[in-house]
Amino acid sequence: MNNRTEILAQTEQHVKAQLSDEGSGHDWWHVYRVRQNARMLCAQETVDTFVVELAALLHDIGDHKFHDGDTSVGPRLAREWLASLQVDEAIIAHVCHIITDLSFKGSGVPTPMASREGMIVQDADRLDALGAVGIARTFAYGGHKGRLLYDPDIPPAVHDSFAAYQKSTAPSLNHFYEKLLLLKDRLNTAAARRLAEKRHAFMEQFLEQFLAEWDGNR
Ligand code: ADP
Ligand code: NI
Repeated sequence: MNNRTEILAQTEQHVKAQLSDEGSGHDWWHVYRVRQNARMLCAQETVDTFVVELAALLHDIGDHKFHDGDTSVGPRLAREWLASLQVDEAIIAHVCHIITDLSFKGSGVPTPMASREGMIVQDADRLDALGAVGIARTFAYGGHKGRLLYDPDIPPAVHDSFAAYQKSTAPSLNHFYEKLLLLKDRLNTAAARRLAEKRHAFMEQFLEQFLAEWDGNR
């Protein structure tokens, strides 16, 4: 199959079917928002938008967090799907490379992207980790995993390896300090950095209010 519109439409249906009832903030609507963010970021660049859209659509179908930490499942499922549609090998390889490199792996672990397309998809995914939606997703994820909202006795950690980051069972509030507040300085594109500013400020305001309420101060 080489009709790009048809391939994207079929991929959308495939991802929807896989992720429609996902309860940890990695559901179909997360994918929808990431694709919208990615389209917006593409508007300012000369990139292969087909690769960007495919990677945005397929980036969470086999997330390591839901496959015992195995990071090879996502790219493998994406490859199998795209091969079943007879997508060109070069495009499959590019999409799978993006999916492999995309994830945040701990505050002390760099996550460089090898192509402009990858940088856009990574920024699009990271924008959805910020702001009001980012806050909602963080507590959805924590609830899904049975985590506490917050525990003043468990301080945030710096994770120097992906393994240490993956092993963490800390309360959801720690995730803001271990990942979310760091993202604005780890974006690839100027357009994403601009959008991130407001979302970042909103999270800071949320944290200040949350911590004040904790001790009955507000
Ligand atoms: P990435 O897309 O970079 O791999 P993840 O899929 O790990 O990022 O995380 C996506 C979202 O899931 C986070 O932005 C956050 O909202 C939530 N999340 C992931 N890990 C945690 C955690 N340990 N505690 C709370 N929320 C988490
Ligand atoms: Ni994602």
